[in-house]
Amino acid sequence: MMTKEWSIQPLPEMDQDQFAQWRTLLEDRTGMRITEQRKVFLQTGVGARMRELGLNDYQNYYERVAENPPGAMEWALLVDRLTVQETSFFRHPASYDLVQKFFREKAKQKNRSAIEIWSVGCSTGEEPYSLAMLAQEELEKTDCYFGVTATDISAPALTRARQATYSGRKLEFISMKRLNDFFVPLDESRYQVVNELRDRVCFSQVNVLELAKSPMYGMDLIYCQNLLIYFRRWRRKEILNLLVERLAPGGLLVIGLGEVVDWIHPDVERVDDSDTLAFRKRVGE
Ligand SMILES: C[S@@+](CC[C@H](N)C(=O)[O-])C[C@H]1O[C@@H](n2cnc3c(N)ncnc32)[C@H](O)[C@@H]1O
Repeated sequence: MMTKEWSIQPLPEMDQDQFAQWRTLLEDRTGMRITEQRKVFLQTGVGARMRELGLNDYQNYYERVAENPPGAMEWALLVDRLTVQETSFFRHPASYDLVQKFFREKAKQKNRSAIEIWSVGCSTGEEPYSLAMLAQEELEKTDCYFGVTATDISAPALTRARQATYSGRKLEFISMKRLNDFFVPLDESRYQVVNELRDRVCFSQVNVLELAKSPMYGMDLIYCQNLLIYFRRWRRKEILNLLVERLAPGGLLVIGLGEVVDWIHPDVERVDDSDTLAFRKRVGE
């Protein structure tokens, strides 16, 4: 049923069967696990989109979204509502300190012509731009080029990331020097990342469950924080194994503290730093 009145009335409670099918669809397609406690989050996201479409029946909407390929466009919009996109510049300072040391080490290496960086689950861009700022600061006096590949499943988040426009509130904790070096004011409350830095970051839609389809190899730094945390433990390990394959020898993989507990891989060793969770890829003998 589609009536105008419905769009302003609250949607009915999602029943347990409906909840089960929505959470299964979401986990199958994105890896994100919605626990019972987060049912309200799921219901709010699905409900908000249904209200925009003037729909009131979870089952009808589910069938429309689940049908592939006709539902693909609608799924692409919905996934943006159902994923947590919270992020900020230099979100976990200890991890960025580690990355800074890594860039300093690379800057000293002779014959190094480029550094490839990958931000996995980059959301609206704050993370890849933070990595690019650090790389620019540490490598500007060298001949070494750097490029950042930034990927996410959400097309709308990537559109916002490419626009690179942020409110002053988002930049509260950025130093004045970085604000001057890397941002231009657009008006009283919004800033945009300078073109020189934007040009270093290439955004692309990649689902980490489909890494086999993505061409990123030989990465010097893979930065993947606050994404695996929403996945089941076995899936986190599976994805980490695939990310290790994409690292160059000597490359650094940085994830979030506590995001995986008992994962080991013969090709990497843990960086000895209790404030971060990072691994270095061994260099072959
Ligand atoms: C909480 S944000 C983390 C952003 C950033 N990495 C940080 O730490 O601030 C999680 C991001 O992961 C993305 N995401 C969720 N599932 C994904 C998947 N299967 N493949 C790629 N990205 C995914 C979401 O769209 C969201 O932008």
